[in-house]
This record gives sequence, structure tokens and C-alpha cells, in this order.
Amino acid sequence: MTHRHTVQPLAIAVLISGNGSNLQAIIDAIAMGLPARINVVISNHANAYGLQRAQSAGIATEVLERHNFTNRYDYDRALQRCLERYQPEWIILAGFMHILDAELVTRFTNRILNIHPSLLPKHPGLNTHTAVLHAGDTMHGATVHLVTAELDSGTIIAQARLTVSADDNADSLKTKVHHLEHQLYPLIIKLIAEQRLQVCAHSVTLDGQPLPANGLQFEHKV
Ligand code: GRF
Repeated sequence: MTHRHTVQPLAIAVLISGNGSNLQAIIDAIAMGLPARINVVISNHANAYGLQRAQSAGIATEVLERHNFTNRYDYDRALQRCLERYQPEWIILAGFMHILDAELVTRFTNRILNIHPSLLPKHPGLNTHTAVLHAGDTMHGATVHLVTAELDSGTIIAQARLTVSADDNADSLKTKVHHLEHQLYPLIIKLIAEQRLQVCAHSVTLDGQPLPANGLQFEHKV
């Protein structure tokens, strides 16, 4: 099979709001040979630490803050124009705390990925680690999924799971899930960059085979 990195790296844009540890994991993976190029890091907060991570790696950064726009529609059009300027093939949401509107999602249909700190469809939204503890779940983890205009609901591409232990609390789970995310997200981006993972209108395949209903599954001992 001809792999994509023999041609040119996958152009991506990474959208962040905060720390950017997932961004860092992608930057590090690229340094180690992941055939991708981050064309731009966009943040909706000027003080997001991830912007410093991007700048340290020599990556272009843009800040678009919601309060500078009169409404969500205008904000999303500005974000769309900004993304279009950098011509990413894929948009990677990495802790971006803003729900993209339908027009923006449609503009990049099946080309937007998100990572979420739970085993979706369980626990969409915020405070997933506390929710896992309250529910008494024995398994927890992270999900990489396609983005639709509805929160945390697009096709699941992959999940990395761990066993919740009796002495876990929300902080320990957060640390463990982050650790999973930092392995899972670059791996999935690599599969896309190498064109092994193909996303079409009605199917997602890996090496020509349809994915399981809940995506590729990875077990991790943390
Ligand atoms: C991650 O837990 C991710 O799953 C969620 O937001 C968090 C971002 O963390 N969407 P970081 O900014 O990458 O450190």
C-alpha cells in the first residue's frame, strides 16, 4: 500500500482553549515522525497556555475571542474564515470549549475530529470524571469522534479504556485519562495522515475494513 507520508504531510489546524497537553502530544508525535503539519493553532482564549506551546514549536497562532463578536453566528464565520486562510485538510479540536455551528461543521464535513474524556455515548459534556464516579462505572477512558453540530455525538472513531480502581478520585481519573488521550489522539491522526483510516459520507474504514460500531478499541494499563 502507498502511504500518504511519501507524498506530503497532512495539513491540520488545532483548536484549543486551555492547557494544550493534547496539542503538545501531537507536536511531539510530529517531531517523532507523524506525517502531519500543524498549519495553525487557534484559541478562543488569549491566555491559553497551549498558545505558548505552539509558539515554542514555531507554529502560527491565532486568537479569536467570543466577546469581540456580537453573536455566535459572526464568531463562527470569523473562525471559518480564519480556518480557510490556513487551508487545513483536517481540523483537530483539542479542548476547544466552543460548539461549532452547523454551517461551520458542514463546511468541513467529516474533516473535524474531537477528543472527549469519557467512553461516549456515556457522559457527554463536562465533569466526566465525577460523573463516572457517581455512576459507579468500572470502565472509563477517552473517545475520538467526528464532530457534528450536536455536542459529543458524531461517529466514534476510537476509544481507549481503563479500569476504574476503588481508590480513584476525579483528579486521579483526569490524570489517567489525559495519559490515554496523549497516546490515542496522535495515533488516530497518524492513521488518517497515512490514509489507512478513510472517512467517507457513509462509512469509516481502517485498511478497507469498516470500524466496529463503537470505534477502534484500545485497552490500557495506567
Ligand atoms: C481533554 O481532556 C480533552 O478530552 C477535552 O479537553 C481536555 C483538554 O486538555 N476535550 P488539554 O488542553 O489538551 O490539556
